[in-house]
Amino acid sequence: MKKRVFSGIQPTGDLHIGNYLGAIQHWVKIQHEYDCIFCVVDLHAITVPQEPKALKAKTREVAALLIASGIDPKIASVLVQSHIHEHSELTWILNCFIPMGWMRRMTQFKEKSQKQKEEVSTALFDYPALMAADILLYDTDEVPVGEDQKQHVELARDVAQRFNSICGDTLIVPKAVIAEAGARIMGLDDPTQKMSKSEEQPGRAINLLDSPDDMRNKIMRATTDSLREIRFDESRPGVNNLLVIYEQFTGQGRKEIEARFEGKGYADLKRELAEVVVEGLSPMQARYRELTADPSHIERLLAEGAGKVRPIAEKTLALVKERVGLG
Ligand code: AMP
Ligand code: TRP
Repeated sequence: MKKRVFSGIQPTGDLHIGNYLGAIQHWVKIQHEYDCIFCVVDLHAITVPQEPKALKAKTREVAALLIASGIDPKIASVLVQSHIHEHSELTWILNCFIPMGWMRRMTQFKEKSQKQKEEVSTALFDYPALMAADILLYDTDEVPVGEDQKQHVELARDVAQRFNSICGDTLIVPKAVIAEAGARIMGLDDPTQKMSKSEEQPGRAINLLDSPDDMRNKIMRATTDSLREIRFDESRPGVNNLLVIYEQFTGQGRKEIEARFEGKGYADLKRELAEVVVEGLSPMQARYRELTADPSHIERLLAEGAGKVRPIAEKTLALVKERVGLG
């Protein structure tokens, strides 16, 4: 039996090469080795206000980008969270087993709610319970996530253990798998900040659906420093970040890359990097256009994805309800 992997991605903002190199490429690699479920988490997205039409379109866009990037829906399952109502139902039951104190410790809520003050939704506070439900519903063994999500996966572990100790062995206790550091991509405009889905800083991220010229322009304008030498050096975050992106897209060794740019200037590095990124993403973009030419195609793939995993979700929820005395 293959181990089960579950991960989720929010359908908000534009996916960028940080998501691609830090998460999606990793998912593509592990799909043969594990039984993978990748979920576009639209219920998480509505914890903050969303425009309904845009949310629906974004959900399809993100799913299509995952598939265009190489996740094979015949091998892994790609689904939309709200297509399986068991996510919401299990969240409610788990809520009854999560002490408020555990939730109050969640650092992401503290950060996000500071920005929104009193406008913040109850659901944003409860976000980790929905995430725990996502994971526990499918008997997940491993959850590949970024460092920022580790605390949420820990909460899923804690609630699984607590549920099992109160109600008897029911839920598989999952474990977080954090991608190694090298894959952390920084903002082009400000290499001290993580590359992120940010509308306010259009120069920060290379989005997966950017045109080749937009990609070139953003890379040519990337912040560097006033030194000259081109080498991997974390104390020079701008140049280092460009080199890391080059390394990730080409798969070349660091020594080889440094030798290639010896005696050359930043403009040369940027020009070459831009071509590497444009070329690197172009097959994915072509597949995306193909996949979305007929909107019913992605709709069908997502229905199939939900269909494949629904029996697992139904079985877990039925058992949980039984253990709690519901029904
Ligand atoms: P987010 O965009 O924050 O919803 O993250 C979705 C996935 O992409 C998570 O697994 C993150 O760890 C990964 N990710 C997001 N931004 C970056 C980045 N700048 N570098 C590497 N990985 C990232
Ligand atoms: N909260 C995660 C993020 O913002 C997305 C997510 C939702 C997720 N449910 C999940 C990740 C379950 C892993 C497992 O990145």
